[in-house]
Amino acid sequence: MRVSTTTRSRGGLVVALDGPAASGKSSVGAAAALRLGYRFCDTGLLYRAITWLALYRRLRAEHASALVRLVPEIELVDDGTGRLSHVAVDGVDRTTEVRGPDVDAAVSAYAGIAEVRHALLARQRALALSGRILMAGRDIGTVVLPDADLKVFLDASVEERAERRALERGIEPDSKAGRKILTELRRRDDLDSNRDVAPLRVADDAIVIRTDGNTFDMTVSLVVNEVRRAEASREAPAAVAEGQANAGNESPAVETPAPEAPAPEPPASMRRDDVTAFDAAASGDETAAAATEEPTTPEVDAASPAALAVPPTAARPRRLRRPPPKPTPIATRIGFLIGMGSAVLRGIAGSILRLRFEGDTNLPRSGPLIVAANHASSADPVLIGAFLNGKLGRPVNWLGKRELLEFPLTGWAFRIAGIHPVDREAADLDAFRTAMRILEAGQVLAVFPEGTRSRDGALQQVREGVGMLALRSGAPVLPVAVVDSDRAWPRGQLLPNFGRRVTVRYGKPFSVGEELGTAGQPRRGRPATEAATRSIMTRIAALLPPRQRGVYAVGVEPPPQAGELATGGSAS
Ligand code: CDP
Ligand code: CDP
Repeated sequence: MRVSTTTRSRGGLVVALDGPAASGKSSVGAAAALRLGYRFCDTGLLYRAITWLALYRRLRAEHASALVRLVPEIELVDDGTGRLSHVAVDGVDRTTEVRGPDVDAAVSAYAGIAEVRHALLARQRALALSGRILMAGRDIGTVVLPDADLKVFLDASVEERAERRALERGIEPDSKAGRKILTELRRRDDLDSNRDVAPLRVADDAIVIRTDGNTFDMTVSLVVNEVRRAEASREAPAAVAEGQANAGNESPAVETPAPEAPAPEPPASMRRDDVTAFDAAASGDETAAAATEEPTTPEVDAASPAALAVPPTAARPRRLRRPPPKPTPIATRIGFLIGMGSAVLRGIAGSILRLRFEGDTNLPRSGPLIVAANHASSADPVLIGAFLNGKLGRPVNWLGKRELLEFPLTGWAFRIAGIHPVDREAADLDAFRTAMRILEAGQVLAVFPEGTRSRDGALQQVREGVGMLALRSGAPVLPVAVVDSDRAWPRGQLLPNFGRRVTVRYGKPFSVGEELGTAGQPRRGRPATEAATRSIMTRIAALLPPRQRGVYAVGVEPPPQAGELATGGSAS
């Protein structure tokens, strides 16, 4: 049976999304489907569920007919948004179980059984009949839906994929467990690509998106744009043909296919702050990602990330990645320039605001340290950096977007100030590695886990970058709360209000790993990373007044300052 994919009758496309393990099919596919308003189906779950059940029932790969009889027990389940990204076995959700290492190790063997694949085929095709679906797998474009309206093949080097998978599981990529993931992926790639039935291969008419170095959001945008482009050319084939004939005209007669609507350019007050790129990179903020990564038109141009989407047969220009930014030397001591600069900034801040510092005794003067603070105003980096330098007896390092460092004069000053360039168009890993380098050198790194300034001054939900950094580096974390800076310098206001009280509170430095250990929490894997992040954010929340604790208010116990502050306080 071949599935007819006449788009017009369905008002949406059938999109095949194939690629090797950990290339991003499930996560990118699910995110792209949500943005597009499409359904999503992760077919890998079907093979994983069969494998899980077979292992449970002790059925080996030779028991083909018994394995086929398992198929009716398995069902893909909607996550509530039209995405079939859960799987139930006999009515019980087993999504977590089927992603375990036992299944990872065995799945390719079971997925290579022709009878099993055949038994799953009709089911996958039936899902595509009503269109408007993105289906992820290995053989969707080649076998399951050879007539799909659009075929996308996601790819990345096996090293990058292994690193992503390790980070996803909270595992150090260079550790023994990390290296095992790499070996396992290589083995699975080999089995999936060289099996007799429906091997993993790029369909001739697929668009290949190479994602090495891409941020997650960039990859999602590339997929979304390809779908939009394909939708538009389906809707107006005649016009598109005419448009192609007119290619090169300044005002083409055809309406160009609409790219994924770029997130509206945020007003200046809402833009991601320049020195918070740790989370631009480590948390993949959607607004920032869209603002910097979205091509303004779906046409592939040499300066747009869309150029990374290359159909294998056509000679489309491929965007070269910019050379990596020149690294900033790690700031290790307060030289004349840092000392002078900090003193000037302290003087300015002190003359505009009524500053108070609390808990500022016994701050560690040596060894690695992660300073993690809330972020509610543009004054925060100064209120933290320029003052902590003196209190720690050493400078604070930051991550910042590379553009900051590329202007001749300011670039020089920012480098002196210990800001390390991070390429927002590159992978999360780059920011992470720079952060690790600073900590491994035994120095201080300041981060705003929220990434962007909070809209209402209260803590926002953060992703797990900071928790993973704390766990992997083993560096103690110094929680810092900047209280009321949002009132002193509200977002969208050009200048700060004069004479407002702002309190900077330092908590006690603590080891996240030890805290999880004493609380009986897992110390490895994703649950550990989540728990570590929660623990850091709760410590910051505990230093803030209730109105600023936001989403982390629930974890604060006992109430604010009591017991949380190191002793001492000073007004400046
Ligand atoms: O998430 P990951 O890429 O590691 O794997 P998956 O997409 O969940 O797929 C697990 C396994 O199922 C793959 O290694 C393939 O052997 C198999 N599979 C397949 O053969 N055909 C598909 N359409 C999807 C998955
Ligand atoms: O489904 P598949 O095995 O192809 O991959 P996945 O499970 O969706 O992605 C593997 C990991 O890579 C996830 O943690 C993704 O968030 C991450 N990823 C990434 O960091 N950057 C990308 N461009 C794509 C995926």
